[in-house]
Amino acid sequence: MENSIKPIGVFDSGIGGLTVVSEIMRQLPEESIIYFGDTARVPYGSKSRETVTRFAFEGLNFLLARDVKMVVVACNTVSATCLEELRESSPVPVLGVIEPGAKAAVGVTRNKLVGVIGTERTIKSQAYVRAIRKIDPEINIFSKACPLFVPLVEEGWLDNEAAFFTAKTYLLPLKNEGIDTLVLACTHYPLLAATLQAVMGEKVHLVDSAFETAREVGGVLEAAGLKCSVGDRPVYRYFVSDNPAKFIEVGERFLRRPIDPISVIDPEVPFGI
Ligand code: DGL
Repeated sequence: MENSIKPIGVFDSGIGGLTVVSEIMRQLPEESIIYFGDTARVPYGSKSRETVTRFAFEGLNFLLARDVKMVVVACNTVSATCLEELRESSPVPVLGVIEPGAKAAVGVTRNKLVGVIGTERTIKSQAYVRAIRKIDPEINIFSKACPLFVPLVEEGWLDNEAAFFTAKTYLLPLKNEGIDTLVLACTHYPLLAATLQAVMGEKVHLVDSAFETAREVGGVLEAAGLKCSVGDRPVYRYFVSDNPAKFIEVGERFLRRPIDPISVIDPEVPFGI
């Protein structure tokens, strides 16, 4: 198969990576996509570095076995934990979400007070703090792990009372710091954007890395001569490790297109096939 018409592989621990998929579909409509959401083992964000790394390599190997031309690690937790290791062992380009998100935040803040919310592992890793400070060392960063957001999203509770109460409890301390920018440093959080915006107020910019990541995907493909030609018809395929019905129910609501075809795979089987 000609390299440029091969699909882009996108990997996340669950459904949240569809936020990145949605942006790739919008910005690069000719590109085919293979998505793998590890729904059997989500959340990654509360697991150890070793476990996240093992899962990440299984996800990478599954996508490589399906002959993708590049891999997008849509998961912030994986990007914060072992992106370099994945890159070193991959024959195709591997892009994470942290640098694109950090770049977007630095471009948006005016008062240089930036909040970062993510899973426990992402926040503990300080990966966003490093990435933001590398671009602008004067920015003050207030980080907060929000572990209950992921199960809310996986459950499809995006804007009910439970979501609102949880968001208020996590975010009020950040709001009180006077931040003007809040980085949604977790693939799942953009699905809660309306609730988060209501709690933070209209003046606070919510940054999700999906837009910037999709833009960088385009840049990487262009630089490597791997971009599809205009007019190519994309093919989308979805793989999960468990509970496809839930994935379809929540995912279609978000993506506003059919999640079809979808297959269930076991990522612990070598190469997942
Ligand atoms: N995909 C993860 C992330 O972006 C969130 C879900 C999880 O904890 O696995 O950090």
